Amino acid sequence: MDVAIRVRTESPIGTISPRLYGHFAEHLGRCCYEGLWVGSQSRGIESVEGFRRDVLDALRELPVPLLRWPGGCYADHYHWRDGIGPVDERPRRLGMSCDLQVLDDNSLGTHEFLRLCELLGAEPYLAGNVGTGSPQELCDWVEYCNTPLDTTLARLRRKHGTPDPFGVRLWGVGNENWGCGGNFDAGSYAREYRRYATMLRHVDPGIELVASGHNEVWNCEVLETLRDHLHLVDHLSIHSYWIRGGPETDFSEEDYYRLLSEAEETEAFVGRTAALIEEAARGRHRIGIALDEWGVWHPEARTWGPGEVQRRSPITLEQANTLRDALAAAVALEGFHRQCQVLALTNLAQVVNVLHAPVMTEGSRMWLTPTYHVLHLHRPHIGATAVEVSFEEGVALPDGLPAVSATASTRTGSLAVTLINRHICRGLSVRVSGVPAGITPKGRVLTAAQPDATNSAEEPEAVKPTEISVERDGPDGWRVEMPPHSLVTVTTQQ
Ligand code: AHR
Repeated sequence: MDVAIRVRTESPIGTISPRLYGHFAEHLGRCCYEGLWVGSQSRGIESVEGFRRDVLDALRELPVPLLRWPGGCYADHYHWRDGIGPVDERPRRLGMSCDLQVLDDNSLGTHEFLRLCELLGAEPYLAGNVGTGSPQELCDWVEYCNTPLDTTLARLRRKHGTPDPFGVRLWGVGNENWGCGGNFDAGSYAREYRRYATMLRHVDPGIELVASGHNEVWNCEVLETLRDHLHLVDHLSIHSYWIRGGPETDFSEEDYYRLLSEAEETEAFVGRTAALIEEAARGRHRIGIALDEWGVWHPEARTWGPGEVQRRSPITLEQANTLRDALAAAVALEGFHRQCQVLALTNLAQVVNVLHAPVMTEGSRMWLTPTYHVLHLHRPHIGATAVEVSFEEGVALPDGLPAVSATASTRTGSLAVTLINRHICRGLSVRVSGVPAGITPKGRVLTAAQPDATNSAEEPEAVKPTEISVERDGPDGWRVEMPPHSLVTVTTQQ
């Protein structure tokens, strides 16, 4: 035995809300247009009401419990009225985000997006425009989507095919307003937020509002400025992109571990943000953390930040997604489970083709990235109760941290444990104790010969989960032989 892990079913942490497994679709590069939406121009790609069938099927299976749209930076340029009404009468706009411009014919608008959510079984999360919009414009969007009364906007919604209110609960008041969303200073944004939130709540008191957060300095000032109006904030948004892992595929051993450490730091960032909120709110009001953009952003796919590599030209925000990235995502998910009391929602950036995407497309071809498989292997945890796990003894990584980490959850009659062997080159024999007696466990593993393994249009199944044997080891234990750089989920079902 190289590593011993103990599952503490007697120590529950909290519920792993489905909102912690959210995704993000921005009108950026080939995410929304081409990746999700092909409209009537499907060019031989099978579609369902304008959405690619292959992508829909894959995402449904993932699943996608929450979907944020339309940005990102794009949201602060977006005018929702452009995206309603007859498609051929919609304006053709400059879609702008992250120094990228796309022609946006607005064929994917409010009704289409909310239909996508319906098809996926996802809760929608709409990001409002503060940068170039107004409180009135956002109030109108909320009214259009949510009012049960027979107002002119409700009649317009009905005219466009939706008689009943959509009932969208989650609304972002801008995005990264410290940067692309208007380069506000924190105090000015907080005052602007207060105005928006006050008026939005009048329109629909039931909505949940997300304020645009950032680093500790920004967050402190926003919360301080809003101190007498914290009841207007339901969630504070933060973003975590991992940018220090070196090249996307040609990374060194040092880069490999650095990326995993950066992913791990996401949890500490959540913890520090929670402490700030706690200090500001002092129990008067509960504010959740909305980690509404997270994931790896490789240097090849950006013009800024660290990374001694050739930057791609032009930048499309598309990048390779290797097994290493998938393991990094899993490291972050462990933290999300541990922080499920304070972390209200998360959105992986982004859902198709862009950045840390679980699904990629090229023409009529679609493939799943290793990150898709990692998320799918976490499916048993969604909605379950996270429980404490402890590392008892065993092999360490070069930085002294345990080589194997784990997360576990229970629900009536079943237990799921996900283990990561972070060691780049050592297979490890892992004993998991604290598990119920007499139930035959089932294990699935995701690994490959090298951590830079990836899938592609040509080789869509180079990296995919397979079964792995999990032996019983004493009355309360299992033993599993984990390959290097691998992830295993073990489930029991009575
Ligand atoms: O996800 C890409 C971009 O990253 C988003 O538009 C923005 O919010 C962030 O800077």
